[in-house]
Amino acid sequence: MNCFILTGASHGIGEAIAKKLLSNNNHLICVSRTKNEALLSLANSEKHRMDYFEFDLNHVEELDTLMRNILEKISPDVDALYLINNAAIVFNQPIEEIDPSAIARLLTINLVAPMILTSSFIKYSKPLNVEKRMLNVSSGSSFNLSPGGSCYSTSKAGLETFTKSIGIEQSDVKIMAVRPNMVDTAMHAATVNKKNLKSPEYAADRILTFLLERFEHGKIVKAW
Ligand SMILES: NC(=O)c1ccc[n+]([C@@H]2O[C@H](COP(=O)([O-])OP(=O)(O)OC[C@H]3O[C@@H](n4cnc5c(N)ncnc54)[C@H](OP(=O)(O)O)[C@@H]3O)[C@@H](O)[C@H]2O)c1
Repeated sequence: MNCFILTGASHGIGEAIAKKLLSNNNHLICVSRTKNEALLSLANSEKHRMDYFEFDLNHVEELDTLMRNILEKISPDVDALYLINNAAIVFNQPIEEIDPSAIARLLTINLVAPMILTSSFIKYSKPLNVEKRMLNVSSGSSFNLSPGGSCYSTSKAGLETFTKSIGIEQSDVKIMAVRPNMVDTAMHAATVNKKNLKSPEYAADRILTFLLERFEHGKIVKAW
């Protein structure tokens, strides 16, 4: 059995990834502020193994305990363990118009939380001698800058630097980051040209292909 820990599974790309991971061979553990009831009832009706942690990634002090609790759910005969840091938020506003607490919240959800979850994942999974991979969902906005996107771009650039740093530091646990292009999710509800957007299902397929078939430790890649 493979175990997948996925943040941001309540909608968008995360929900599409979660749906693709529901299978008899997988144990799926989801994290987001709101439970994805449709996903849970699908898993229930098809008798797939799934746990859901309703959790706000902004609660930094509780992130380590969250990961410890998650890893306690994992069966000792697990074959491979995966962490997908997918949850994120975005603002599109000039920096002086953003509330200071909102700046801190974005950096916490998009960057600090994945860093702490990575740290705790490595620490608490040490007794498990299995394949362990972490995938961070980044964005072309890490280098492709736009007015109003400073917080989001900074968080994704930080996430990529973190990914590369962990790549040279760790060898038992592998890490990479994938940059989806524009996807039709709530994040782009106000995007003018919907024609250029890929579906969340397409993005999920690409992300899972990199995680499971084309994984490159320490690398940052475009999803398509
Ligand atoms: N959409 C795109 O075009 C695009 C392009 C490049 C990269 N990306 C990246 O792809 C990833 C997924 O984006 P998306 O478009 O699918 O976004 P989305 O539809 O807005 O979904 C974001 C997910 O993150 C969760 N989340 C947000 N704040 C959270 C918090 N405080 N605690 C826990 N979970 C939280 C949300 O769940 P709750 O609200 O229930 O908490 C939701 O499940 C992100 O990392 C994004 O940066 C997206």
